[in-house]
Amino acid sequence: VQLSRITVALDYPIAFTRGVFKPGNHVLRDVITRREPGKRHRVLFVVEHAVWSLWPGLGAEVQVWAEAHAAEVELAGAPLVLAGGEGCKASITEPLAVAERLDASKMDRHACVVIVGGGAFLDMVGFAAAITHRGVRTVRVPTTVLSQADSAVGVKNGINAFGKKNFLGTFAAPFGVVNDADLLETLPDRERIAGMSEAVKVALIRDRDFFTWIEAHARALHTGAQPALSQLIQRSAELHARHISTGGDPFELGTARPLDFGHWAAHKLESLSDFDVRHGEAVAIGIALDTFHSVECGFLDRRWLEPIVHTLELLGFRLWREELAMRDADGALSILAGIQEFREHLGGELTLTMLADVGQGIEVHELDDALVLRGLDWLRARAR
Ligand SMILES: NC(=O)c1ccc[n+]([C@@H]2O[C@H](COP(=O)([O-])OP(=O)(O)OC[C@H]3O[C@@H](n4cnc5c(N)ncnc54)[C@H](O)[C@@H]3O)[C@@H](O)[C@H]2O)c1
Ligand SMILES: [Zn+2]
Repeated sequence: VQLSRITVALDYPIAFTRGVFKPGNHVLRDVITRREPGKRHRVLFVVEHAVWSLWPGLGAEVQVWAEAHAAEVELAGAPLVLAGGEGCKASITEPLAVAERLDASKMDRHACVVIVGGGAFLDMVGFAAAITHRGVRTVRVPTTVLSQADSAVGVKNGINAFGKKNFLGTFAAPFGVVNDADLLETLPDRERIAGMSEAVKVALIRDRDFFTWIEAHARALHTGAQPALSQLIQRSAELHARHISTGGDPFELGTARPLDFGHWAAHKLESLSDFDVRHGEAVAIGIALDTFHSVECGFLDRRWLEPIVHTLELLGFRLWREELAMRDADGALSILAGIQEFREHLGGELTLTMLADVGQGIEVHELDDALVLRGLDWLRARAR
């Protein structure tokens, strides 16, 4: 028996800037050309429709940007503008349509797809690029708080299928990520707030000082005040990226998935609400539930419960939704099925992250249904 070992080093820059498409801004060009600086790179922009319509000058800006860097980039065609939001992850039709356009635009593996949009759009177009030629380069330009603070810096993509979140997808590192704070200016309050729960999550499992900072700045963050919002995004992106690059399991081959603290309930709640509850909103509820659980199991000091939940509320999260009380045909609470679905998605033994302290996660392999029910009652009572 011969053991075959493959080691692949993946590296990608994560840049922070403003005015990414202004002709004097070199960040995007440098990210695209970093591996072959002498070459002229074929680039196709794929832009989420909501962003395209809220930034009416975007098409012209991209054109001027390309002309300013004509020695290094050539556009493969006009930007491809498609609908985003969770709806774009609803069927395989969307990524196949993107793949068709990549073919028509003669995008080879060394060409670069610049994806401009929210987390759902990045997931869907990233999936299309990952399965086209088994992987076309992508540079992500995330346009929501959630995607800048979390999803865009990671190595996953995918779409929903068979009633389950992210059922179809791949692990694929981007070629680069460019976070532009200006692009967040058109974001509705609801979306801006929703995105902050992933920062709270990573603070709770990795960085107590960051949590204390969020707690102290919660009111400013609620209103989207700068520089607080940019600082939150940058630290969150840094912690997520650090976990992926140094945590030892970027492609989640093991059963542990610490970055998914609070996510077993979140994913189920999103589905139960037909995606009326945003991912970030569901994560905030999942964090509150699993923090309660951590306290009741004796992992986390009880004095942390109120500051954590109150911080989520100050940021603007509503921590109760009627879908949490939905029951299936047998009368069981539907949300509890999220535990099993979470295990199936990961494979192997059920592994959930709870809090041992603020800034420190702990892995557990079972969840006490009765305690989850008490947590739900507690959240409902609190909402009244
Ligand atoms: N791949 C990963 O590792 C990972 C991690 C976390 C979350 N996710 C996924 O990310 C998705 C959530 O991402 P999201 O919170 O960015 O939501 P989203 O992509 O659905 O965007 C939220 C809304 O904002 C709109 N929008 C986007 N940018 C805008 C802008 N600049 N101005 C105005 N409106 C804008 C969108 O059209 C949408 O209606 C979920 O599908 C979730 O599963 C993936
Ligand atoms: Zn998430």
